[in-house]
Amino acid sequence: MAEAPQSATARAHSNIAFVKYWGNRDQRLRLPANSSLSMNLADLHTTTTVEWDGELKADTLAINGSIAADRALKRVADYLDVLRARFKIRRFARVSSMNNFPMGTGIASSASAFAALAVAASAALGIRMSEREVSILARMGSGSAARSIPAGFVEWRAGDSHESSFAQSFAPPQHWNLVDIIAIVSREHKRTGSSAGHETADSSVFQPARVKSADERLRSVKSAIMRRDFEQFADLVEEDSNLMHAVMMTSKPPLFYWEPLSLAIMTAVRSWRRRDNLQVCYTLDAGPNVHCICAASDADAVASRLRALAGELDIMRSSAGDGAYVLPAD
Ligand code: PMV
Repeated sequence: MAEAPQSATARAHSNIAFVKYWGNRDQRLRLPANSSLSMNLADLHTTTTVEWDGELKADTLAINGSIAADRALKRVADYLDVLRARFKIRRFARVSSMNNFPMGTGIASSASAFAALAVAASAALGIRMSEREVSILARMGSGSAARSIPAGFVEWRAGDSHESSFAQSFAPPQHWNLVDIIAIVSREHKRTGSSAGHETADSSVFQPARVKSADERLRSVKSAIMRRDFEQFADLVEEDSNLMHAVMMTSKPPLFYWEPLSLAIMTAVRSWRRRDNLQVCYTLDAGPNVHCICAASDADAVASRLRALAGELDIMRSSAGDGAYVLPAD
């Protein structure tokens, strides 16, 4: 007799890196070239239900209610192969995923997506794992997903093996009331996704210098966060983002993620900080949208200045968020 399907639903938040992960030492295992540091985003999340079903002949995927039959399904099915090997099962799965933010815009949908998938897929099977084991598992789907497992402010040590490369929280979400105001410069799907981008990182002459200096930057950013020192934090976060984009722009082929409006916002943000004493700085991932990280007390001022700069601009806003968790069955 066929086993009854086993299902569970999990939620994971997106995260924004203050010290970026770019480039892998091992592409298959997604062992990163450098350690990275991020903050989970409370208001940007993915909710995923996984149902392991012995009757299915292949994995299926629905994203925001639409059936996916393209690269997204291939990537999820490849990841489910990893889980099948790890959990020693043969069944296929029905995966249904809902994002409350747009995908493919440089807002890390893959981080929350693979974190939620790792948690839901293992919970459905009744498998209990430590946070560290789940972070390692999520990393195999998307590197930055490792950082969406623990809560709040998170550090992902690069490690030197599969078992030693995982993320851990170093401060809870309430530690510092930072807000990420995301200026949506474009909703278009990005031309080169981060998985392909990581593979080009080593072709830039700047990558070794960025990687070599990453640990020192990470220590300083972490210390600025622990002391809630916005001035020091802001300079380092902007420098780290610029370094990653310098690598991207000088890779072969070059990757230019910034749009003219991205640069206009970056310039404005610096002057709001320098000239007007607003506690705000910028950081950009593999896309043109600008994450304006600010003190909660300056968030309204930053949002209204962004709207004044570009009238039609969509804005999303989030404070620091929790780690990934299983939702109660209804
Ligand atoms: O997890 P991936 O493979 O989507 O890589 C994320 C890379 C960046 O978002 C550009 C930087 C980061 O550390 O989140």
